[in-house]
Amino acid sequence: MKVGILGTGGMGNVHARHYANISGVELVAWDRDSDKLGAFSKHHGAAKATSYEDLLNQVDLVDICLPTPLHLDFVLQAIESGTATLVEKPMARRLHECRRMIDAANAKKVQLGVGHVVRFFPEHRKIHELVLAGEVGTPASCRMRRGGRCPMGSEGWFRDLEQSGGVILDLAIHDYDWLRWTFGEVIQVYAKSVRLGSTVPDTQIEGDYAVATLSFESGLVANVETTWMDPSGFRSTLEVTGSNGMIEFDSRQNPAWRVHTDSGSMAGGQMDGMDDPYYRHLSAVVDAVRLGSEMPISGEEGMKAVAIAEAAIQSAVEGRPVDPRVLMAEASAV
Ligand SMILES: NC(=O)c1ccc[n+]([C@@H]2O[C@H](COP(=O)([O-])OP(=O)(O)OC[C@H]3O[C@@H](n4cnc5c(N)ncnc54)[C@H](O)[C@@H]3O)[C@@H](O)[C@H]2O)c1
Repeated sequence: MKVGILGTGGMGNVHARHYANISGVELVAWDRDSDKLGAFSKHHGAAKATSYEDLLNQVDLVDICLPTPLHLDFVLQAIESGTATLVEKPMARRLHECRRMIDAANAKKVQLGVGHVVRFFPEHRKIHELVLAGEVGTPASCRMRRGGRCPMGSEGWFRDLEQSGGVILDLAIHDYDWLRWTFGEVIQVYAKSVRLGSTVPDTQIEGDYAVATLSFESGLVANVETTWMDPSGFRSTLEVTGSNGMIEFDSRQNPAWRVHTDSGSMAGGQMDGMDDPYYRHLSAVVDAVRLGSEMPISGEEGMKAVAIAEAAIQSAVEGRPVDPRVLMAEASAV
C-alpha cells in the first residue's frame, strides 16, 4: 500500500516514523520546500514525488500534514482525484470548509478521516472507557488543561492567529474532540482568551491563553484551559468527577492516572510503552483503507470539533455564550 505524505514538517515526520512500523506500507512524499523534502526522503526512505498531482497519481492514501489554512484546497484536490484522505487536526481553519470537504467526499465516495490522535492516547482511551463503564457514576464535570511553549511551524505560521487560530482552535480542539467523544453533544460554549475580544482597551498581551466552558446535552459542564505560555514544556491534565468518584490524569505523573471513589484511591496501571497513539491511529487508518471501511475518526466528527472551536472563538470575541449546533446548521446551509 502506498501512502503519500503531503508536508514534510513536524507532523509529516511524526507520521512517517510510525508508518515505518506498519507492514506493507511504502511512503511517497511531497513538500514545496525541496530541502525539507530531500532530508525527509533520506531519513524515512520515502520516494519523492515531483508535484502534488504526481503524489496523488501514485498513492492509495494521502496524509495531509500542511498548515491548517491549506487543508481545504489540498483535501478537495485529493478527493477530486479519488484518493482516500487523512487530514491532520484541526480539520480546517473554518467550519464551512469542513462541510465542503465532507460533501465532496460523499459525492465522490472517497474515505475521509481526521487526525484526532488524542482518542488513541492510552490514558485518554482508558479514562474514556472507564467513564462509559460507569466507574465514576453519572459524570457531572470535567476539567482539561493542555499547554506548553508556542510552536513555530514553517515560517512561524502557528504564531499567526489568522493562520493557526491560536490555542483556542489549534490546541483546545484535542480536548473538545475527546470531550464530545466521551460525553456527547455540546449545547453551549462560553470562552475567554487573552488574544481575542480583550475587555481591557489598548491592552496587548504577548502570548496565547484561553479558557472555554462547555455545557453538554447531558447536563455535564467542562472547562478546557489551553496555553502557549508555559516555558516548562508540554503538559496535559484531566479530571472527571461523577456521582460515584473521580478520575484524574497528569501527563507529568507516573503513573499518570488515578481513580478515587468512596472505597479508596487506586493508581492506574502502567500503560504499554509500545502503545503509541500515532502508531495505533495510523494503523487503524491503513486498515480502513485496505478494507474500504469508514475511517476511525470521520469528517463529521472532525467538523463537530471545529464547530465547538468556532463557537469558542465567537464567544471570546463577542463576550456571550454560543451554541455550536447553530453554527453547524449555518455552515450546512451555506
Ligand atoms: N496531532 C497533533 O498532535 C498535531 C501536532 C502538531 C501539529 N498538528 C497539525 O498538523 C498540521 C501540520 O502542522 P506541522 O506542525 O507539521 O506544520 P509544519 O509547519 O512543521 O509543516 C508543514 C509543512 O508543509 C509544507 N508546506 C507548506 N505549504 C505547502 C504547499 N503549498 N505545498 C506543499 N508543502 C507545503 C512546509 O514546507 C512544511 O514542511 C497542522 O494542521 C497542525 O495543526 C497536529
